[in-house]
Amino acid sequence: MPKARISGVGMYIPEKVYDNAYMESIVDTNDEWITRRTGIKERHVSAPDEYTTDMATIAAKRALDSAGLKPEDIDLIMLATVTPDYFTPSCACVVQGNIGAVNAAAFDYNAACSSFVTGLVMANQFIENGCYKHILIICADVLTKATDYKDRATCILFGDAAGAAVLSATESGEGIISYEIGADGEGCKNITSLAIRDDAEELEKRIGGRKETIWMAGQAVMKFAVKAMADSSGRILEKAGLTYDDVELVIPHQANYRIVDSAIKRMGIEKDKVFLHLEKYGNTSASCIPVALCEAVESGRIKRGDKIILVGFGGGLTWGAALLEY
Ligand code: UT7
Repeated sequence: MPKARISGVGMYIPEKVYDNAYMESIVDTNDEWITRRTGIKERHVSAPDEYTTDMATIAAKRALDSAGLKPEDIDLIMLATVTPDYFTPSCACVVQGNIGAVNAAAFDYNAACSSFVTGLVMANQFIENGCYKHILIICADVLTKATDYKDRATCILFGDAAGAAVLSATESGEGIISYEIGADGEGCKNITSLAIRDDAEELEKRIGGRKETIWMAGQAVMKFAVKAMADSSGRILEKAGLTYDDVELVIPHQANYRIVDSAIKRMGIEKDKVFLHLEKYGNTSASCIPVALCEAVESGRIKRGDKIILVGFGGGLTWGAALLEY
């Protein structure tokens, strides 16, 4: 049975930066509060005419280059976003056209910030059953276009980014070793960004009526996140008969330094085993993990043969963890 391994990675970060000094100038906040409560110093913001598919296309091309593949080698494109350019066509189809991946099927999916791990798990099935050889997974979001810059509780958190990876069939090595994805629909109202449904009255109370922007019950999400990330990582290690000693690097979803810190304590691992870039980019939704993976690969922090854990949580509520040999 073929195994699925990551054959290439790519990322794109828009140029413009909102630092904490800028956030201080637009809402009642300060660098000290943001740093202490979140760990974020800067977030990158897409240009007014730059959308999810623009960023996704660049990250996708970079991932193909990194894998040494041509667009026509790709069998499937799976793109995760909570900020699509359109409801239809899917962003995946737009990117398929942009890069000329003429042989690829394409669809969007949404597990919010858990999407990269969810995508790996889905792609792994297609590869293990022999259906496809090369699958492009892209996570891209322009959260800053769905952010209410009058709401200090959320606007300091988000940035824009795109991350991509190619998953390829291999007969050697371990590839994806174990994984878990899950959902808790009872917590669905803890992170919302409504587009169509008319919940105006409820929204009026919650966010002042701007139904298109992100709203969050921050404390409830934090509690969920720590347990979801630490416990799912523990379970996939147990499934594989391994421990954190066998793992070179843990790449968590980067929403808030305090969440990561508490999760690390619950996992019982040292900070140097965890890859963080939160300070530079803020919370970039599903892109956090593939962007961090790309940085870890490009900086030499991980090398072929290393075992790594990717673990995320997000809206839905959802979570996902994957243990793999890079
Ligand atoms: O990608 C997945 C989704 N999201 C997350 O993972 C987010 C999870 N949650 C969080 O990161 C945190 O809950 C936040 C960073 C959003 C908020 O931190 P917190 O420690 O939960 O703060 P809080 O909401 O309990 O607010 C504490 C105080 C409040 O003032 P009072 O009522 O104590 O006077 C807020 O009004 O901090 C105030 N506050 C701020 N003060 C300065 C809220 N936002 C700000 C701000 N600057 N930006």
